[in-house]
Amino acid sequence: MASVKIICRLGFPNGILTYREVNGVADWGWVSGQDGFAAEEMGEVLGEGRQGIVFRLYEDGKPTNKVAKVVPLHFVEDSIMGPGSIPQLNIYQAKLFKQLALAFGGEDMGLTEDDIPGALPYIYEYGELEVDEYFIKSLDESALKYGWSIDETDFLNEWLKPEMPCAYWIMEYVPCLGKSRPSFCDFGPPFDERDTMTKEDLARIKKEQIGYEEMATFLFDRLGWVVKDVVSPTNFGYRKDGSVVYFDPMVLPWPITPANEEEWNEASLGDPEVDEWEEYVESGDYFQNRTQWTAYSADNSFRRA
Ligand SMILES: Nc1ncnc2c1ncn2[C@@H]1O[C@H](COP(=O)(O)OP(=O)(O)O)[C@@H](O)[C@H]1O
Ligand SMILES: [Mg+2]
Repeated sequence: MASVKIICRLGFPNGILTYREVNGVADWGWVSGQDGFAAEEMGEVLGEGRQGIVFRLYEDGKPTNKVAKVVPLHFVEDSIMGPGSIPQLNIYQAKLFKQLALAFGGEDMGLTEDDIPGALPYIYEYGELEVDEYFIKSLDESALKYGWSIDETDFLNEWLKPEMPCAYWIMEYVPCLGKSRPSFCDFGPPFDERDTMTKEDLARIKKEQIGYEEMATFLFDRLGWVVKDVVSPTNFGYRKDGSVVYFDPMVLPWPITPANEEEWNEASLGDPEVDEWEEYVESGDYFQNRTQWTAYSADNSFRRA
């Protein structure tokens, strides 16, 4: 009997692209206009950054409450994606979102939805694919239909080259971002004032701090990750009910061992961070301080008030 494993299933304006493994051999399949099966389309681009690109998903021409993030897992030389260490960060982040997708989907024996703190986004699906001409053509169709800007198209053309391995995940749409009007829907201090926050503002970021503490503890205890890149107001938002969501956590494995130390340093973009992080985690400071980049950039003003 043939064993078929669907690795990827993405909707586009003219059909659905599946990337499957049939008896261990990878294979693309294109199904035109089939409904009821991954019916959501890759719609407008919500953001593109250092690491990947994020699409709002559409169904029947209307935006859904889901987004898809696609990240490359290999370095592209001379890319606007930046230094070669980014893929290692993407590999780690993809691994985390795969773990979450399995837990939310009830496919992880050790972890259930109830274990996952609300500060992490809900993950509907995780998949991996290798870019090829079908994928690129399908994205071009979405670009036309949803009016992507030239920049967005250029960005994709740069790293979505045939054979590029990518991961994608489908997660909840977070409506209240720093760039929303009003910023963060007034659930926290506005984007522009983040750098100049005073003591009085700390009360307003209490939810962010509690969310961070719960998320950091869970990731550390249950999955063996430390997390950074969670101070930047481009990496979290609020749900309609005012709860905080860190949708772009950068994770690194813990503990650091001789086996992962090289990768760890690579993912730290060359900073000699290992010693700093050991001190930071062992002192317990880590669990209360949201960190942006290195352990030393932890900002004490971001402790819970
Ligand atoms: N789940 C989401 N809901 C709404 N917008 C999102 C979501 N995820 C990402 N975005 C938007 O896309 C931008 C880039 O996503 P992010 O995950 O931060 O990518 P990068 O790794 O490139 O920084 C974010 O700053 C945000 O504006
Ligand atoms: Mg980001």
